[in-house]
Amino acid sequence: MEPIFTYTTTDKAARYEQFMQDFLPYIADEHEEVSVLANTTAALRQAFGWFWIGFYLVRGEHLVLGPFQGDVACYRIGKGRGVCGTAWENACTQVVPDVEAFPGHIACSGSSRSEIVVPLMDRSGVVRGVLDIDSDTLDTFDDTDRHYLEMLCQELCKAIYM
Ligand code: SME
Repeated sequence: MEPIFTYTTTDKAARYEQFMQDFLPYIADEHEEVSVLANTTAALRQAFGWFWIGFYLVRGEHLVLGPFQGDVACYRIGKGRGVCGTAWENACTQVVPDVEAFPGHIACSGSSRSEIVVPLMDRSGVVRGVLDIDSDTLDTFDDTDRHYLEMLCQELCKAIYM
């Protein structure tokens, strides 16, 4: 059997297309937040190999560390703090080509060079958490990543919050 979420194409959009096609069935019948988010991080790691992929979930006044793949990370991030807290406060995806140029960036790992953070928004537009992906090379993420990861987060929200 072919390994799932392991692709040979080097075209980013084509890889995301294959990923969405393969992964969406995995969230069609499951609604448990932790389980769905945990499998999402595992599938993204298999498909794209970024070095840190995880969710921070809104709990009161903080984003709190949720399911992830990668090195040990910080537990809590305040609203407006770092890239994740900024994505939460503005309810808007943050694409950071160079983390050292982002004021207030929170360095969980010294290896992080670029980052994308996509909010998880429920039906009312309330941010319930964020998907945070870190790369160890500069300028990894662009509009293609934004497009597909926002689509993925919409599907996740449908599965677990609606
Ligand atoms: N860099 C993030 C913090 C989380 S770690 O990257 C896992 C930030 O600035 O919000």
